[in-house]
Amino acid sequence: MPATYQTMHEIIIEARRRCDQHTWNYIAGAAETETTLHRNRHCLDRLALRPRVLRDVRSIDTSTTFLGHKLRIPCLLAPIGSLETLTPAGGVAVAEAAAEFGTMNLVSTVTQPTLEEIAAAVDHPKIFQIYIRGDEAWTDELIDRARNAGYAALALTVDSAYYGRRERQLITGWLPPSIRRYGTDLRIHQAGLTWESMDRMRERGGLPFILKGIQTAEDAELALERGVDVIYVSNHGGRQLDHGDGAMETLKEVAGTVGGRAPVVVDGGIMRGTDVLKALALGADVVALGRFQAWALAAGGREMLVRALEIIEGEIRNAMGLIGVSSLGELDGSFVKEATAATQAHELSAFPFLPDHVRRSG
Ligand SMILES: Cc1cc2nc3c(=O)[nH]c(=O)nc-3n(C[C@H](O)[C@H](O)[C@H](O)COP(=O)(O)O)c2cc1C
Repeated sequence: MPATYQTMHEIIIEARRRCDQHTWNYIAGAAETETTLHRNRHCLDRLALRPRVLRDVRSIDTSTTFLGHKLRIPCLLAPIGSLETLTPAGGVAVAEAAAEFGTMNLVSTVTQPTLEEIAAAVDHPKIFQIYIRGDEAWTDELIDRARNAGYAALALTVDSAYYGRRERQLITGWLPPSIRRYGTDLRIHQAGLTWESMDRMRERGGLPFILKGIQTAEDAELALERGVDVIYVSNHGGRQLDHGDGAMETLKEVAGTVGGRAPVVVDGGIMRGTDVLKALALGADVVALGRFQAWALAAGGREMLVRALEIIEGEIRNAMGLIGVSSLGELDGSFVKEATAATQAHELSAFPFLPDHVRRSG
């Protein structure tokens, strides 16, 4: 029963028990040497919190708003392809968990069931994440379908001109269903994207438009000049370009440039309530959860994802109280400082009490 799980450790152990090696690698793995993945955690580990005291923290509000919608915690559910490999209900399980808990999810172009079925499953604001696997007519139709299905916003992923070299997959010869379904030839359409094609999609959609995968101040500036509504800092959990910087370092650079002109989302290695507070202190408005979400789904579908969100909510509340803030708006750069990392970073290093067979299962 999900309610008996007290920490993410137990959930991850259960996910490992239920996943075959291919599915486990699909969730945990990243590109080539997995250096970007490790840096995501390392950058978080290198930040220390600076708590303030004697500030009456009896009442704590973990909620925020994103694009005008209330979120119970500042954590979106990042888009994940091939969700049907993690839980039979696929994207419906995530949408239902988001609605039940009180947050928003991003629905990947390359997950099952269809975007319409996911939209119809539960009536709460969801975001559609776009990958391009066809020409302009194909793209127009996809955007029209998302708008007609009632999505609240669109997110174009821009860090995926080519598919990252995921060596765990290359070694075993396994590919996720999304790749098997679309093949690799159609990705050429994603590689051909330009700022002009982004403008066209934004206008066609007529919905709040998010660019997911911004990794430099220069591109954040270009996006803002062109009217993008939300800057989403992400290196795709290290699954695309290897040897990029950790997401928290990128966030500092990008949030400084954005300077409050648009909301900033960040993902990459966020596993803990303290991670969430660090990201917000560095200028993010909300974070998104990738592998955290995937492990919970693999461990027990919708119910386990709700439980995992309750656990991170508890961590956020606890950490807010201990650093002396009652609301998220009080967080700023004064609550973090550079420190030395205390652990060797890897995809599971936020969970030091996992048994060896789970930690070394790559
Ligand atoms: C199994 C898996 C599948 C993913 N599929 C997509 C996808 O279809 N579209 C997308 O934009 N990002 C995708 N991502 C990237 C996530 O949206 C997110 O950027 C990343 O997982 C954040 O890092 P984290 O896993 O360390 O939290 C995927 C990530 C994982 C782990």
